[in-house]
Amino acid sequence: MAGKVSKTKKKTAKAKFVPNIVAFACNWCSYAGADTAGINRVQYSPNFRVIRTMCSGRVTPGHVLKALKLGADGVLVSGCHFGDCHYIFGNYKAVEQFDRTKALVKTLGLDERRIRLEWVSAAEGTRWGEVIDEFVAQITTLGPSPLNHKPKSRK
Ligand code: FES
Repeated sequence: MAGKVSKTKKKTAKAKFVPNIVAFACNWCSYAGADTAGINRVQYSPNFRVIRTMCSGRVTPGHVLKALKLGADGVLVSGCHFGDCHYIFGNYKAVEQFDRTKALVKTLGLDERRIRLEWVSAAEGTRWGEVIDEFVAQITTLGPSPLNHKPKSRK
């Protein structure tokens, strides 16, 4: 019986879970894409906070890990499509940085699906909404980040 109550409580807690997502978006494409989504009144999940960076290549593993440490359940890094980066090779650097970040996330015992790298141009407002919705759904399925569990207080 106690097991049943516990399962019900867990289900309720999971049903109430609203993911906290941080999206690093490059100034020249993805941030503008988010703007386009707003201008075109694209309907998508509001469960994220955007941090504007000049280029996706500027987002280091440290930035992503700090976002996770400070309470993000998932982190999205988004930049220009290949060939469109304002700094020519910034998004290629972003891929390298992201691979390093993924390795660190795995080392920490976190599910690597908690981080995601996507390319969204300034004209792709609809795509921006789709990427956010997909990622929110994915993180909702994964549940709260294990880093967000507060340790039980000692008596
Ligand atoms: S400026 Fe957008 S990825 Fe480099």
